[in-house]
Amino acid sequence: TDKYAVIGHPIKHSKSPFIHAEFARQCQQDIEYTAIEVPLDALASSLQQLRDVLKLKGINITVPFKEQAWELADNLSDRARRAGAINTLIFEQDGTMSGDNTDGIGLCRDLENHDIVLKDKRILLIGAGGAARGVISPLMAYQPAELFIANRTASKANNLAELFSDLGEVQGGGLTDVDGHFDVIINATAASLHGEIPDLPTSIFTNQSCCYDMMYADTDTAFIEWAKKQNVSKTVDGLGMLVEQAAEAFYLWRKVRPDTHSVMQKLRDNM
Ligand code: ATR
Repeated sequence: TDKYAVIGHPIKHSKSPFIHAEFARQCQQDIEYTAIEVPLDALASSLQQLRDVLKLKGINITVPFKEQAWELADNLSDRARRAGAINTLIFEQDGTMSGDNTDGIGLCRDLENHDIVLKDKRILLIGAGGAARGVISPLMAYQPAELFIANRTASKANNLAELFSDLGEVQGGGLTDVDGHFDVIINATAASLHGEIPDLPTSIFTNQSCCYDMMYADTDTAFIEWAKKQNVSKTVDGLGMLVEQAAEAFYLWRKVRPDTHSVMQKLRDNM
């Protein structure tokens, strides 16, 4: 039995053990996947322990360790390097730790699941924290016409736009700098956590807009509720992204691709 875990702080509400157990059953992989809470000030020593004492083969990393784990990894995939954070680690045979970030590809796969097209479209990405940064290079790979990063604190959006400007038309600004309407609107802020919505004009929406909230809850998030009121074409919450990022991590570890749709359905049924 190969052992894996998700680490975070707090971690007890994580759905990852359920998701990976479902993947393992489906793909007949003999693995064990648990959730482990790591002390806030002891990531480096905990990683060593997970590898050397618990003999894990790999881990997922969640809040608040993604950036710190990025610093500690020995090798990084290109997408992880640009993301500035990792959510997946592989403990290699030679003792090194390889880091990857599957959040962006998870988002993009879920957009595809919902037939949301990015090529030649105007995308609005709201937020400029770690969650936003992690998805920019995978989004730009679809060659949108424009990606506008809008954040409450404009300077953070401008910095991100600068950092990714080599990938295409990437602009940044404050919430009041947002101009016109968008085909795809992605909420990567923590506002939904507090039941709040970013202070943006409703003119960003048209009845053709597709709206995605990286957050999810058992009822509509504040952002989804707001978008629905504007009669947009589609609204999607982040549950699918959660499952798709897990599937990509599972693939990195096990080299098999699980079916994500049945797992999404089970999660919805349990909510
Ligand atoms: P994460 O790693 O989840 O992205 P973060 O780095 O703390 O977390 O970033 C949170 C993001 O949500 C930021 O873009 C933040 O805006 P600021 O940079 O201006 O703080 C955004 N955010 C949080 N609450 C918000 C709210 N009520 N309205 C708009 N944006 C909000």
